[in-house]
Amino acid sequence: MSGGWFITGTDTGVGKTRIACLLLEALAREGKPAMGMKPVASGCRATGAGPRSEDAEKLLAASAGSADYTEINPYAFIPAIAPHLAARETGVEIRLEKILENFQRLQHRAPWLVVEGIGGWMVPLGENQAMADVARAVGLPAILVVGLRLGCLNHALLTAAAIRRDGVALAGWIANQIDPAMTHVEENIDALRGSIDAPLLARFPYRLPAPQGDLAPVFPHEMIMHLTSNFYVKTNERSE
Ligand SMILES: Nc1ncnc2c1ncn2[C@@H]1O[C@H](COP(=O)(O)OP(=O)(O)OP(=O)(O)O)[C@@H](O)[C@H]1O
Ligand SMILES: [Mg+2]
Repeated sequence: MSGGWFITGTDTGVGKTRIACLLLEALAREGKPAMGMKPVASGCRATGAGPRSEDAEKLLAASAGSADYTEINPYAFIPAIAPHLAARETGVEIRLEKILENFQRLQHRAPWLVVEGIGGWMVPLGENQAMADVARAVGLPAILVVGLRLGCLNHALLTAAAIRRDGVALAGWIANQIDPAMTHVEENIDALRGSIDAPLLARFPYRLPAPQGDLAPVFPHEMIMHLTSNFYVKTNERSE
Protein backbone atom coordinates (compact mmCIF):
# COMPACT_ATOMS: atom_id res chain seq x y z
CA MET A 1 0.00 0.00 0.00
CA SER A 2 1.21 3.53 -0.60
CA GLY A 3 -0.03 7.07 -0.35
CA GLY A 4 0.53 9.99 1.94
CA TRP A 5 -0.94 13.14 3.38
CA PHE A 6 -1.01 16.83 2.65
CA ILE A 7 -0.23 18.73 5.83
CA THR A 8 -2.09 22.02 6.06
CA GLY A 9 -2.66 24.32 8.99
CA THR A 10 -4.85 27.03 10.39
CA ASP A 11 -2.10 29.56 9.74
CA THR A 12 1.61 29.99 9.33
CA GLY A 13 3.70 28.97 12.34
CA VAL A 14 1.18 26.50 13.79
CA GLY A 15 3.44 23.44 13.81
CA LYS A 16 3.03 21.91 10.32
CA THR A 17 6.73 21.17 9.88
CA ARG A 18 7.21 19.85 13.37
CA ILE A 19 4.25 17.53 13.05
CA ALA A 20 5.14 16.47 9.50
CA CYS A 21 8.61 15.47 10.75
CA LEU A 22 7.14 13.53 13.66
CA LEU A 23 4.81 11.75 11.27
CA LEU A 24 7.72 10.88 8.96
CA GLU A 25 9.70 9.50 11.89
CA ALA A 26 6.74 7.55 13.26
CA LEU A 27 6.06 6.01 9.84
CA ALA A 28 9.69 4.92 9.57
CA ARG A 29 9.56 3.36 13.04
CA GLU A 30 6.56 1.35 11.91
CA GLY A 31 8.43 0.05 8.86
CA LYS A 32 6.61 2.38 6.45
CA PRO A 33 9.26 4.46 4.71
CA ALA A 34 8.13 7.99 3.99
CA MET A 35 9.57 11.04 2.26
CA GLY A 36 8.76 14.65 2.99
CA MET A 37 8.08 17.31 0.39
CA LYS A 38 7.75 21.09 0.62
CA PRO A 39 6.69 22.13 -2.87
CA VAL A 40 6.86 25.88 -2.25
CA ALA A 41 8.84 27.78 0.38
CA SER A 42 9.60 31.45 0.92
CA GLY A 43 11.96 33.01 3.44
CA CYS A 44 14.76 30.70 2.31
CA ARG A 45 18.43 31.37 2.96
CA ALA A 46 20.88 31.85 0.12
CA THR A 47 23.54 29.17 -0.28
CA GLY A 48 26.07 28.37 -2.97
CA ALA A 49 23.76 25.60 -4.15
CA GLY A 50 20.72 27.87 -4.34
CA PRO A 51 18.02 28.96 -1.87
CA ARG A 52 17.39 26.51 0.98
CA SER A 53 14.27 26.31 3.15
CA GLU A 54 14.66 25.28 6.78
CA ASP A 55 11.35 23.40 6.53
CA ALA A 56 12.46 21.41 3.50
CA GLU A 57 15.78 20.58 5.15
CA LYS A 58 14.00 19.34 8.26
CA LEU A 59 11.62 17.24 6.17
CA LEU A 60 14.51 15.79 4.19
CA ALA A 61 16.39 14.94 7.40
CA ALA A 62 13.30 13.15 8.77
CA SER A 63 12.72 11.25 5.51
CA ALA A 64 13.45 7.57 5.16
CA GLY A 65 14.81 7.86 1.61
CA SER A 66 17.23 10.24 -0.02
CA ALA A 67 16.51 12.79 -2.72
CA ASP A 68 18.08 15.82 -4.28
CA TYR A 69 17.08 18.93 -2.41
CA THR A 70 15.35 20.47 -5.41
CA GLU A 71 13.20 17.37 -5.83
CA ILE A 72 11.53 17.88 -2.49
CA ASN A 73 11.50 21.68 -2.74
CA PRO A 74 11.21 22.75 -6.38
CA TYR A 75 10.21 26.32 -5.55
CA ALA A 76 12.44 28.05 -2.98
CA PHE A 77 12.29 31.83 -2.65
CA ILE A 78 14.49 34.07 -0.56
CA PRO A 79 12.06 36.94 0.18
CA ALA A 80 10.15 36.14 3.38
CA ILE A 81 6.82 37.18 1.88
CA ALA A 82 3.70 35.51 0.48
CA PRO A 83 4.80 32.96 -2.15
CA HIS A 84 3.05 34.52 -5.14
CA LEU A 85 4.76 37.82 -4.36
CA ALA A 86 8.11 36.11 -3.81
CA ALA A 87 7.70 34.28 -7.11
CA ARG A 88 6.86 37.51 -8.92
CA GLU A 89 9.81 39.32 -7.34
CA THR A 90 12.10 36.47 -8.37
CA GLY A 91 10.66 36.32 -11.89
CA VAL A 92 9.47 32.75 -11.49
CA GLU A 93 6.11 31.21 -12.31
CA ILE A 94 4.98 28.47 -9.94
CA ARG A 95 3.79 25.61 -12.13
CA LEU A 96 1.56 22.85 -10.81
CA GLU A 97 2.90 20.50 -13.49
CA LYS A 98 6.43 20.88 -12.14
CA ILE A 99 5.26 20.16 -8.57
CA LEU A 100 3.35 17.12 -9.75
CA GLU A 101 6.34 15.86 -11.73
CA ASN A 102 8.55 16.02 -8.63
CA PHE A 103 5.83 14.45 -6.51
CA GLN A 104 5.57 11.52 -8.91
CA ARG A 105 9.33 11.10 -8.90
CA LEU A 106 9.33 10.99 -5.10
CA GLN A 107 6.61 8.35 -5.19
CA HIS A 108 9.25 6.03 -6.65
CA ARG A 109 11.59 6.73 -3.75
CA ALA A 110 9.25 5.85 -0.88
CA PRO A 111 5.75 4.39 -0.59
CA TRP A 112 4.51 7.18 1.68
CA LEU A 113 4.79 10.93 1.12
CA VAL A 114 4.17 13.74 3.57
CA VAL A 115 3.68 17.03 1.72
CA GLU A 116 3.73 20.28 3.67
CA GLY A 117 1.82 23.26 2.35
CA ILE A 118 2.84 26.85 2.93
CA GLY A 119 0.90 29.01 5.37
CA GLY A 120 -2.76 28.02 5.31
CA TRP A 121 -5.10 26.28 2.87
CA MET A 122 -5.84 29.14 0.48
CA VAL A 123 -2.45 30.85 0.24
CA PRO A 124 -2.19 32.18 -3.34
CA LEU A 125 0.61 30.85 -5.54
CA GLY A 126 -0.11 32.97 -8.58
CA GLU A 127 -2.97 34.15 -10.70
CA ASN A 128 -5.98 31.87 -10.15
CA GLN A 129 -3.82 29.35 -8.33
CA ALA A 130 -3.53 28.55 -4.65
CA MET A 131 -1.95 25.98 -2.31
CA ALA A 132 -5.28 24.14 -2.30
CA ASP A 133 -4.69 23.37 -5.99
CA VAL A 134 -1.45 21.63 -5.08
CA ALA A 135 -3.30 19.50 -2.53
CA ARG A 136 -5.88 18.62 -5.17
CA ALA A 137 -3.25 17.91 -7.80
CA VAL A 138 -1.27 15.46 -5.65
CA GLY A 139 -4.54 13.79 -4.66
CA LEU A 140 -3.65 13.16 -1.04
CA PRO A 141 -6.02 13.49 1.90
CA ALA A 142 -5.32 16.50 4.09
CA ILE A 143 -4.33 16.58 7.73
CA LEU A 144 -5.24 19.88 9.36
CA VAL A 145 -2.91 21.15 12.08
CA VAL A 146 -4.84 23.42 14.39
CA GLY A 147 -2.51 25.75 16.27
CA LEU A 148 -4.32 26.15 19.56
CA ARG A 149 -4.51 29.83 20.39
CA LEU A 150 -7.23 32.41 20.68
CA GLY A 151 -8.96 32.66 17.28
CA CYS A 152 -8.17 29.10 16.24
CA LEU A 153 -11.80 27.94 16.26
CA ASN A 154 -12.75 30.26 13.45
CA HIS A 155 -9.59 29.44 11.49
CA ALA A 156 -10.05 25.71 11.97
CA LEU A 157 -13.72 25.68 10.95
CA LEU A 158 -13.12 27.88 7.92
CA THR A 159 -10.23 25.67 6.82
CA ALA A 160 -12.16 22.43 7.29
CA ALA A 161 -15.05 23.90 5.28
CA ALA A 162 -12.73 25.02 2.49
CA ILE A 163 -11.03 21.62 2.30
CA ARG A 164 -14.41 19.96 1.93
CA ARG A 165 -15.56 22.52 -0.65
CA ASP A 166 -12.41 21.90 -2.67
CA GLY A 167 -13.16 18.19 -2.82
CA VAL A 168 -10.18 17.05 -0.79
CA ALA A 169 -10.63 14.37 1.86
CA LEU A 170 -9.82 15.39 5.41
CA ALA A 171 -8.04 12.45 7.07
CA GLY A 172 -8.22 14.19 10.41
CA TRP A 173 -6.99 17.11 12.45
CA ILE A 174 -4.33 17.62 15.08
CA ALA A 175 -4.61 19.87 18.11
CA ASN A 176 -1.24 21.52 18.62
CA GLN A 177 -0.83 23.76 21.63
CA ILE A 178 1.46 26.48 20.41
CA ASP A 179 0.46 29.01 23.06
CA PRO A 180 1.51 27.87 26.54
CA ALA A 181 -0.71 30.52 28.14
CA MET A 182 -3.92 29.49 26.40
CA THR A 183 -6.74 28.72 28.80
CA HIS A 184 -9.83 26.53 28.19
CA VAL A 185 -7.86 24.20 25.95
CA GLU A 186 -10.20 21.26 26.57
CA GLU A 187 -13.28 23.32 25.81
CA ASN A 188 -11.76 24.54 22.56
CA ILE A 189 -10.84 21.02 21.51
CA ASP A 190 -14.36 19.84 22.41
CA ALA A 191 -15.89 22.59 20.29
CA LEU A 192 -13.86 21.47 17.28
CA ARG A 193 -14.48 17.80 17.92
CA GLY A 194 -18.19 18.48 17.65
CA SER A 195 -17.89 20.58 14.50
CA ILE A 196 -15.16 19.13 12.31
CA ASP A 197 -16.37 16.13 10.37
CA ALA A 198 -13.08 14.22 10.69
CA PRO A 199 -11.29 12.56 13.60
CA LEU A 200 -8.97 14.24 16.04
CA LEU A 201 -5.81 12.25 15.27
CA ALA A 202 -3.49 13.51 17.97
CA ARG A 203 -2.94 16.17 20.60
CA PHE A 204 0.39 17.84 21.08
CA PRO A 205 1.03 19.64 24.36
CA TYR A 206 3.13 22.78 24.42
CA ARG A 207 6.68 21.51 24.48
CA LEU A 208 9.92 23.02 23.28
CA PRO A 209 11.74 20.80 20.80
CA ALA A 210 13.99 18.37 22.66
CA PRO A 211 17.57 17.99 21.41
CA GLN A 212 16.91 14.28 20.99
CA GLY A 213 13.48 12.84 20.50
CA ASP A 214 10.42 15.01 20.38
CA LEU A 215 6.71 14.50 20.91
CA ALA A 216 6.99 11.08 19.33
CA PRO A 217 4.52 9.11 21.49
CA VAL A 218 1.65 11.19 20.13
CA PHE A 219 1.86 9.16 16.91
CA PRO A 220 1.53 5.75 18.51
CA HIS A 221 1.41 2.48 16.65
CA GLU A 222 -2.41 2.43 16.49
CA MET A 223 -2.57 5.90 14.93
CA ILE A 224 -0.07 5.03 12.20
CA MET A 225 -2.00 1.83 11.48
CA HIS A 226 -5.25 3.78 11.32
CA LEU A 227 -3.80 6.37 8.95
CA THR A 228 -2.09 3.92 6.65
CA SER A 229 -4.79 1.26 6.55
CA ASN A 230 -7.52 3.76 5.78
CA PHE A 231 -5.55 5.17 2.97
CA TYR A 232 -6.98 3.13 0.14
CA VAL A 233 -10.08 5.36 0.14
CA LYS A 234 -9.47 7.73 -2.76
CA THR A 235 -9.60 11.45 -2.15
CA ASN A 236 -12.66 12.21 -4.21
CA GLU A 237 -14.64 9.19 -3.07
CA ARG A 238 -14.06 10.18 0.56
CA SER A 239 -15.48 13.64 0.16
CA GLU A 240 -18.77 12.50 -1.25
N1 LIG B 1 3.52 21.85 20.52
C1 LIG B 1 4.44 22.82 20.46
N2 LIG B 1 5.00 23.32 21.58
C2 LIG B 1 5.93 24.31 21.53
N3 LIG B 1 6.38 24.86 20.40
C3 LIG B 1 5.87 24.39 19.23
C4 LIG B 1 4.88 23.36 19.19
N4 LIG B 1 4.57 23.12 17.89
C5 LIG B 1 5.32 23.94 17.15
N5 LIG B 1 6.11 24.71 17.96
C6 LIG B 1 7.08 25.72 17.54
O1 LIG B 1 6.41 26.72 16.77
C7 LIG B 1 7.25 27.18 15.72
C8 LIG B 1 6.52 26.99 14.39
O2 LIG B 1 6.40 25.58 14.15
P1 LIG B 1 6.53 25.01 12.68
O3 LIG B 1 7.73 25.59 12.02
O4 LIG B 1 6.40 23.55 12.76
O5 LIG B 1 5.20 25.69 12.06
P2 LIG B 1 4.72 25.71 10.55
O6 LIG B 1 3.25 25.68 10.58
O7 LIG B 1 5.43 24.66 9.81
O8 LIG B 1 5.23 27.14 10.08
P3 LIG B 1 5.40 27.68 8.55
O9 LIG B 1 4.10 28.30 8.20
O10 LIG B 1 6.52 28.69 8.70
O11 LIG B 1 5.77 26.53 7.69
C9 LIG B 1 8.55 26.37 15.83
O12 LIG B 1 9.49 27.10 16.54
C10 LIG B 1 8.13 25.13 16.59
O13 LIG B 1 9.18 24.52 17.31
MG1 LIG C 1 6.63 24.83 8.12
